[in-house]
Amino acid sequence: MKALILVGGYGTRLRPLTLTVPKPIVDFANKPMIIHQIEALKDAGCSEVVLAINYQPKVMMDFLAEWERKLEIKISCSQEKEPMGTAGPLALAREILDDGSGDPFFVLNSDVICEYPLKEMLAFHRRNRAEGTILVTQVEDPSKYGVVVMDADSRVERFVEKPKTFVGDKINAGIYVLSPKVLERIELRPTSIEKETFPLITRDRGLFAFTLQGYWMDVGQPKDYLTGLGLHLSSVRRREPELLASGDSFVGDNIVHPTAKIGKDCRIGPNVSIGIECEIANGVRISNSVLLHRVKVRDYSRIADSIIGWGSSTGRWTRIDNKCVIGEDVHVREEVFLNGAIILPHKEIKETILEPGTII
Ligand code: GDD
Ligand code: MG
Repeated sequence: MKALILVGGYGTRLRPLTLTVPKPIVDFANKPMIIHQIEALKDAGCSEVVLAINYQPKVMMDFLAEWERKLEIKISCSQEKEPMGTAGPLALAREILDDGSGDPFFVLNSDVICEYPLKEMLAFHRRNRAEGTILVTQVEDPSKYGVVVMDADSRVERFVEKPKTFVGDKINAGIYVLSPKVLERIELRPTSIEKETFPLITRDRGLFAFTLQGYWMDVGQPKDYLTGLGLHLSSVRRREPELLASGDSFVGDNIVHPTAKIGKDCRIGPNVSIGIECEIANGVRISNSVLLHRVKVRDYSRIADSIIGWGSSTGRWTRIDNKCVIGEDVHVREEVFLNGAIILPHKEIKETILEPGTII
């Protein structure tokens, strides 16, 4: 089976992290986001994953070459000359996706995380003889998603992308099983699967919705990325608790890379991920936060609800709080307090920032 992951876009909502690497290779729980997806696809029987890319393809492909070997799955790149939207890339990769066997293929948005019930979705798709099956989940604020209305047999009756008025609270989770027939509906031009293709399949009664059990998150922006990390870690607690950190320093669910060092009298958690070769000194308090690789946190620092980029450091008694996102190679001086600040890469921060949302 084949799969296509929609990787395009500049990942602007996850800046400044995406100034350093493309969004899909930003780590999530110490593993690049896209690797969570590729592992799930392999597990569901995929032999080849096509990445639909329109930005920095070389960075992505160089990075993924190592994972291609490790996971023993073919990863290829379908590069767009101009952004082709969410359906155009399927037309561009048509020859790979439709191998003549009639087998359906998977399509994934690259910024969604969940427990990926791909095998179950595929069985459901086949049972319904569907043209397309979309994964759906329930959310409180459906307005920023594609809303799906279905009948008692799970057949989609309406698909409305980013509705202005309330249509329903079941939304498109950004994961599809599609039969090759769908490719006949997509022209080779920039086009939207949500606005153009799904309404057509719905009209012909070929679109079905498979309801997701368990957590789901679009982690394309910092706040949701942190919420998603908490949900992911509690699912790791249920499925593979041995992957979580244990010991007196930890509260709740946390993941710590084996090469990271943690000093005395720290309190870490809940919902923290600490990356490769991070060094946490003594008396440090961290909660609901992500430390990407090689971050140094000096004594008595306090980090809450924030993301700290690769190779960055804090001096002693610093406080980083309230959805700060700190880019790569940023050094925060002793005693500085950052409240909701966004710090671009390669900076030294000497002064406190109290106004949330300040970009430096
Ligand atoms: N290759 C390629 N080319 N990929 C693209 C392009 C493009 O021109 N434009 C967007 N993408 C990719 C994005 O990288 C992302 O993985 C996916 O397509 C969806 O685009 P987003 O920009 O993240 O859309 P969204 O989050 O506003 O809405 C989509 O996802 C929701 C779930 O998170 C829609 O599919 C909604 O219906 C859905 O509910
Ligand atoms: Mg998105």
